[in-house]
Amino acid sequence: MAVPSVELTGGVKFPMIGFGTWQSAPDVVGTAVRAAIDAGYRHIDCAWNYFNEKEVGQAVKDKITEGKIKREDVFITTKLWCTYHRPEDVKRGFQESLRGLGLDYIDLFLIHGPPAFKPGPKWLATDDSDYDDTDYVDTFKAMESLVDEGVCRAIGLSNFNTQQLERVLQNCRIKPAVNQVELHPYLVQQKLVDYCKSKGVVITAYSPLGSPGRDFAQPGEARVLEDPVVLDIAKNHEKTPAQVLLRYHLDRGIVVIPKSVTPSRIRENLQVLDFSLTADDIKKLNSLDRNNRYVDWSFCKTHKYFPFRD
Ligand SMILES: NC(=O)c1ccc[n+]([C@@H]2O[C@H](COP(=O)([O-])OP(=O)(O)OC[C@H]3O[C@@H](n4cnc5c(N)ncnc54)[C@H](OP(=O)(O)O)[C@@H]3O)[C@@H](O)[C@H]2O)c1
Repeated sequence: MAVPSVELTGGVKFPMIGFGTWQSAPDVVGTAVRAAIDAGYRHIDCAWNYFNEKEVGQAVKDKITEGKIKREDVFITTKLWCTYHRPEDVKRGFQESLRGLGLDYIDLFLIHGPPAFKPGPKWLATDDSDYDDTDYVDTFKAMESLVDEGVCRAIGLSNFNTQQLERVLQNCRIKPAVNQVELHPYLVQQKLVDYCKSKGVVITAYSPLGSPGRDFAQPGEARVLEDPVVLDIAKNHEKTPAQVLLRYHLDRGIVVIPKSVTPSRIRENLQVLDFSLTADDIKKLNSLDRNNRYVDWSFCKTHKYFPFRD
């Protein structure tokens, strides 16, 4: 069954299930991406700071060479890291990803998050002296030129809260096509979801399975994949808990990008098109909301543009 798409501004088709690549080690991510393309994924989520774009891009090119896909069949998202926010650095940040991936255009380019850090090789802020004041509105305006130049088909945001998104919408020439944010039943973010929908900004749900394998997972943390309500709904539909958590977004009109390096899970996560959740299932899943962020950007909590205060 073909994965449904949503249309972004300008008629660009955005497949509703994408393949996550964060913390997929460079020595395994190529095999994972090839398995994903073989399984039917046609949307891959990348970022400069995943430090594996070269291997992801090579895997995509392998599949093109093999004749399995054409470049235009696969939707590639990547993200501008915080050390490239100054308008004069935006193009360089973009080109590093483009060169890393070995492609000649990107389908969707996102600001990875609103806070800017000082340009330079130190990519992660460890104290306030690493922060930069660049306004993300100016960063986004510089990204508009990439669309004008034809090197990326759409631009958008990630980790933006309602007020930040509103500022971009009020000040920019090209509407951000997407806001990619953490979403799952422990972090429902209904207000943000409703706001994005009202403005025609497509939402992508990251960490839809609760990011259980991330390197900073806390021992004993509540795992949405193991929640009894999720397990119960999975049993009723004869599906796995992961499939229920992915279907939850599709049934809310939200794009979802699960990550896996395990071939059986890569296939499992795509087998979500032959069922749907009931209104009662969605209600039960929404009732699990506890404002639980697995990816909290704690490295820049004191930045003036830290997004998770509302
Ligand atoms: N914009 C941002 O700031 C941001 C932040 C975080 C993530 N993201 C994007 O969103 C993607 C997904 O989020 P994520 O990587 O944080 O986490 P996730 O997709 O919620 O969870 C991935 C973890 O779940 C495991 N898993 C995958 N399928 C499973 C299944 N069917 N059953 C049980 N476990 C399963 C994976 O293990 P194995 O790999 O070992 O199979 C991995 O440990 C990222 O890869 C990235 O592309 C974006």
